[in-house]
Amino acid sequence: MSDRRVLVNLRGLLTPDPARAWAVDRIPDAALALDGGRVAWLGRAADLPTEWRSAPKVDGGGAWATPGFVDPHTHLLFGGNRSGEFNRRLHGVSYQQIAAEGGGIRETVRATRGATVAELVASGEARLKAFHERGVVHLECKTGYGLELETESRLAAAYAELKARGWSLDVTLLPAHDLAPEFNGDAETNARAVAEDWLPELVRRHPGVARFCDVFVETGVYTADQGRRIFEAGKRLGLVPRVHADELSWTGGAELAAELGAASADHLMFCSEAGMKAMAAADVTPVLLPGTTLFLGMRDWAPARKMIEAGCRVALATDFNPGSCPCLDPLTILRLGCLQLRMTFEEAFTAMTLHPARSLRREDLGHLHPGARAEVLLWDVDDMLELVYWVGEPYRPRFLPA
Ligand code: NIG
Ligand code: FE
Repeated sequence: MSDRRVLVNLRGLLTPDPARAWAVDRIPDAALALDGGRVAWLGRAADLPTEWRSAPKVDGGGAWATPGFVDPHTHLLFGGNRSGEFNRRLHGVSYQQIAAEGGGIRETVRATRGATVAELVASGEARLKAFHERGVVHLECKTGYGLELETESRLAAAYAELKARGWSLDVTLLPAHDLAPEFNGDAETNARAVAEDWLPELVRRHPGVARFCDVFVETGVYTADQGRRIFEAGKRLGLVPRVHADELSWTGGAELAAELGAASADHLMFCSEAGMKAMAAADVTPVLLPGTTLFLGMRDWAPARKMIEAGCRVALATDFNPGSCPCLDPLTILRLGCLQLRMTFEEAFTAMTLHPARSLRREDLGHLHPGARAEVLLWDVDDMLELVYWVGEPYRPRFLPA
């Protein structure tokens, strides 16, 4: 059966152009021709090619059409939450201090080690629904709250189940999210266990589930050298590196990502200028997480403008996690991108659609040019900029009928 239809009655259509860096097409009175769940044509309704004129129509209701958001950095699955720790932070205790006392990530590790696969799937699916109704159509999701093989394996199994249920996800293995309590601070031995035992065993048990691997390269966690060894082990298993880099201090994370040919370097509040140039030259996507800067109350926002000037294709993400950014709202991130990282609306929009899709090697997401998956959002606003301008409004997109 042919599945040809044309989306009509659009106030406009806004999409990045995958063929031109940072270019955004803004087409008024647009139409979008869809064939078999893919975009076949886009343009002004008046220019609709003759072969499409008799295809069934879908009424856009005068909305703006855009591609769905792609979130390239989330820690979707974990047990419990850290509102108690958050209250301590409101009383002046720092995130690092709480971590040094054995709380922070390790608090969530304790809760996650006690969770079954079914519980992880249930809470994960509720979060995925919340992301989706806000317009996020594809996400990168990390393991990382196990810090030992069996819990990391349950997290991978839960992601496999969510994928089997039809959620559009890319999975990243992050058993090196922190130092495991069992290793008593011996990062060297812990890094060796991750590289030589846990990663190979996770890939053996869950073939095809993960495409990427990640390491928290940070002062007091893993050094760049330890990160390099873990990433090289991941690469031998077919996992492409994504690096938690230069988040709380400079550790050479961006430089390491460039050296490894990583898909992304993420956070980067303390990235060096050399790191920016290296990322641009190696086509590493800087993934900036302004929700984390906000939630941790930090003063140093990632230098998005400098990265753009250096030639980087910047992406934005939520970093959704229970400790440093319990936020799954793409509009909050879009607004912080414009208001704190000083990106233009078009830049922030591209950084939440095309660039994250590119960093995940998903060329058919993040735009609405021919060949793209028909993941279309419909926004009932006069102009798309209003999503940022009406700063607290909880806009929700409409979706195409199935
Ligand atoms: O991206 N940096 C490491 N991981 C998370 C924080 C995780 C947590 O606090 O639970 C991050 O900020
Ligand atoms: Fe993160």
